[in-house]
Amino acid sequence: MAQTPSSNLDHLSESELTAKLEPDLLPKHVAVIMDGNGRWAELRGLPRIAGHREGINSVREMTTQCLELGIQALTIYAFSQENWNRPTQEISALMGLLEHYLSTERASLIEQRVRFRTIGRLELLPQSAQHWVRTTEKETAHLDNKMVLTVALSYGGRAEIVDAVRGLLNDARAGTIQPDHVDEAMIQQYLYTHPLPDPDLLIRTSGETRISNFLLWQLAYTELCFTPTLWPDFRRREFLLALLEYQKRERRFGRILSTVSS
Ligand code: IPE
Ligand code: IPE
Ligand code: MG
Repeated sequence: MAQTPSSNLDHLSESELTAKLEPDLLPKHVAVIMDGNGRWAELRGLPRIAGHREGINSVREMTTQCLELGIQALTIYAFSQENWNRPTQEISALMGLLEHYLSTERASLIEQRVRFRTIGRLELLPQSAQHWVRTTEKETAHLDNKMVLTVALSYGGRAEIVDAVRGLLNDARAGTIQPDHVDEAMIQQYLYTHPLPDPDLLIRTSGETRISNFLLWQLAYTELCFTPTLWPDFRRREFLLALLEYQKRERRFGRILSTVSS
């Protein structure tokens, strides 16, 4: 990982890295800002869409690896609200890829018992993309919480908070909630991600060290891992290194360590 020398792990194989994981300390929910697809393609003299296409293979691998490890929730940032400002050609290509991914991966998601969900302002997506999203959500809705794959599409963290406030105000006007009763737990219930727990680990690829309007509320106490690896190159070994890095972190949530508190 970028900010932690991992040289002592460089010589280890994937199975040796897996064996180093502490099963009881695995994150329950991993969030990923999948960045660097365009640069991956440009480095190879390819059109940007080639990077997005290759990035889908990383998504597939990470989903399978989460299943293998027993990580129950994976939330991936696929298209931000701000990404609507990209050239129309790239947006159309991305929407086409989304439809292709859903139409071809649905069967394997169902077979693996992965529940598929989306968060974001889906109504802004082209009708055909919305169709595949809704179909996949419906077809996997019954799957018993083995793993939830949440894809953030047309997503903005501030827009999510705006939508939560609107929901709260509507319910207050209808008289089903009292303003005095609003607390953090209640706000959480109005967020798109409800009922998922907050992410334990956020990974951002491609060397950028910002949040880019992702899960602003939910990341309050998430451990952040930044890696220079571009998303299409972020495969099983990289994920294991991120998990090992996470397991070294001391999550204090504002408290003083019990060993030094006296
Ligand atoms: C991330 O890769 C995918 C999306 C934002 C859709 P980018 O397309 O941002 O790739 P870079 O950052 O330009 O390399
Ligand atoms: C964040 O990546 C959004 C997604 C990965 C979908 P961007 O490439 O859009 O973010 P910025 O513009 O570098 O902050
Ligand atoms: Mg980017």
